[in-house]
Amino acid sequence: MPRAVITGAAGGIGGAVARTFAAAGYELALLDLSKAEQPGAESIALDLTDPEAVAEAFERIARRWDRIDALINVAGINHRAPVREMAVADWDRMMDVNVGHMFLTAKNAVSHMGEGAAIVNMASISGHVATPDYPAYVTTKAAVESFTFALSQEVGDRGIRVNAVAPGWVNAGFTDAALSEAENPQDIFDAAREAHLLGRMAEPEEVADAALWLASPEASFVTGQTLFVDGGLMRKH
Ligand SMILES: NC(=O)c1ccc[n+]([C@@H]2O[C@H](COP(=O)([O-])OP(=O)(O)OC[C@H]3O[C@@H](n4cnc5c(N)ncnc54)[C@H](O)[C@@H]3O)[C@@H](O)[C@H]2O)c1
Repeated sequence: MPRAVITGAAGGIGGAVARTFAAAGYELALLDLSKAEQPGAESIALDLTDPEAVAEAFERIARRWDRIDALINVAGINHRAPVREMAVADWDRMMDVNVGHMFLTAKNAVSHMGEGAAIVNMASISGHVATPDYPAYVTTKAAVESFTFALSQEVGDRGIRVNAVAPGWVNAGFTDAALSEAENPQDIFDAAREAHLLGRMAEPEEVADAALWLASPEASFVTGQTLFVDGGLMRKH
């Protein structure tokens, strides 16, 4: 049975990733601030920006498993503030969660990974297209791809693949939060129809399927790449 560690698994996209990997026969360890609900999975509640907590979580995982086949880094936060108004602490937190946690999990995971193992990091089209008033998010999501590329170079000779998934708008998580705050939620769906060639947002399972493929032997010669799961949004820019 293959084994996957998934961060952000209590969230919208991370939850779909956990369900998708479970359905594909993976044994799961789920890391998030709160315990992720998934039958049969080991859920560990922690702050993924805490180096000691992350190290302890991987020690716990290593006591149970003799290897890790997949690390799927999904945890992330968003913060709306233009540069001139953003608090330094908010900027630092964005970096620590969105990029730093991927460094910490990879740092602890790669020694338990070998030939055929894979890491998948959740990026975003926001690292590529105008997203006004979200400079920290844009910066972190671009950095996720740079980190993915750099790590793929470091571990390629051990047969470990590292890729990123860059979704467009996804009908879950951050979008749920935006919908609940919107005066007219239909405006968001209308904007999504305009933004994507396919005329809609992604369902979280469509993003999870891409992560599953990148982690699978079917993607055995794919590394250092970003897979855009964006319904053609990038092709409209
Ligand atoms: N929803 C979208 O439209 C969309 C689009 C593109 C990319 N993404 C990316 O997908 C990922 C998941 O987003 P989502 O929309 O499912 O949001 P979400 O808020 O539902 O999920 C994020 C999860 O990360 C966890 N998390 C945040 N900080 C943490 C920390 N310090 N320690 C441990 N866990 C922490 C949260 O508890 C949450 O469960 C993010 O990386 C986001 O940037 C989302």
